[in-house]
Amino acid sequence: MNNFLDLADLQREQVVELLELAERLAQKPEPHALAGKILGLLFFNPSLRTLASMQAAMARLGGNSFVISAGQGTWQLETRRGAVMNGAPAEHVREGVPVLAHYCDALGIRAFAGGVDLDADLNETSFKEMVGLVSKPVINMESAANHPCQALADWKTLDDLTVPRRAKFVLSWVNHPRALPLAVPAATVHMAAMRGMEVVVLRPEGFALPPAIMQKAAAAAAAAGGSVRETHDRDDALTGAHVVYAKEWGSTSHYGNAEIDARQRTSLADWCVRDTWFSRAAVDCKLMHCLPVRRNVAVADEVLDGRRSVVQREAYNRMVVQTAVLHRLLSTPQH
Ligand code: CP
Repeated sequence: MNNFLDLADLQREQVVELLELAERLAQKPEPHALAGKILGLLFFNPSLRTLASMQAAMARLGGNSFVISAGQGTWQLETRRGAVMNGAPAEHVREGVPVLAHYCDALGIRAFAGGVDLDADLNETSFKEMVGLVSKPVINMESAANHPCQALADWKTLDDLTVPRRAKFVLSWVNHPRALPLAVPAATVHMAAMRGMEVVVLRPEGFALPPAIMQKAAAAAAAAGGSVRETHDRDDALTGAHVVYAKEWGSTSHYGNAEIDARQRTSLADWCVRDTWFSRAAVDCKLMHCLPVRRNVAVADEVLDGRRSVVQREAYNRMVVQTAVLHRLLSTPQH
């Protein structure tokens, strides 16, 4: 493994091995495994979990890390190719990213979607260009259309909770005051498909996941013996569900149009997960969410504070699985 950019870059067996390593390191820590190694963390967008869990994971392996939040105490970084740089950004990523790579042994990058051009966001043009500037391992800390660290943590959470491989996994759109990126829904639907689950994407009209995301998930499901489908019918989706994974994302029928997106949401206030959502679900059905979550907009207090919620386990597992990723990318085999 040279980079950690997309779960789809790994075979299913490699993901299982990574999760076994994560569990082994959690049970039997290796506090000196990455002594002398440095992890650089470049953020173009805010974070709580990713920022803290990457640093904690590196420290637990005996390594060090530095954090650059672009434009906050550092130069603003330009990402557009061919930009005439007479605005606020003083440095281009074509210089800045290789400079940072000189100072570390691996680099994590977080760069969200532009949210204007769906094709550009799905192609991850800007993120791929930055990855191409680095000759050392790169970790995707959330790009325009992917969040593999979150997906790996969520897979581990499902395993920890002994959710059967073939169980019904419902990725449900939930409300939010504004459009959010497709990174987590794309990574989540792919992860559950790759795990071999019966995956149902539940969403209102206008919020269907793009065909490229569904086709990628369908291929993963076919290889793992699972299935993937989409519906707007909440009863159909939630009947027999073992997991409800709540996630917010923007309009896909009018991608990048904030005005129409807002209008589409005006009648969708009931897309907030409540206890009543679970009336036809499996008795021990779980509620997952990557966090941060808007209480009583996306998920009601009664669910987040109730027995079904496993959001803290997911957040904890971010550190656990990233420890394995860093170990795999940076440790020197012992002879
Ligand atoms: N789930 C997640 O990536 O959280 P942060 O945005 O806080 O890092």
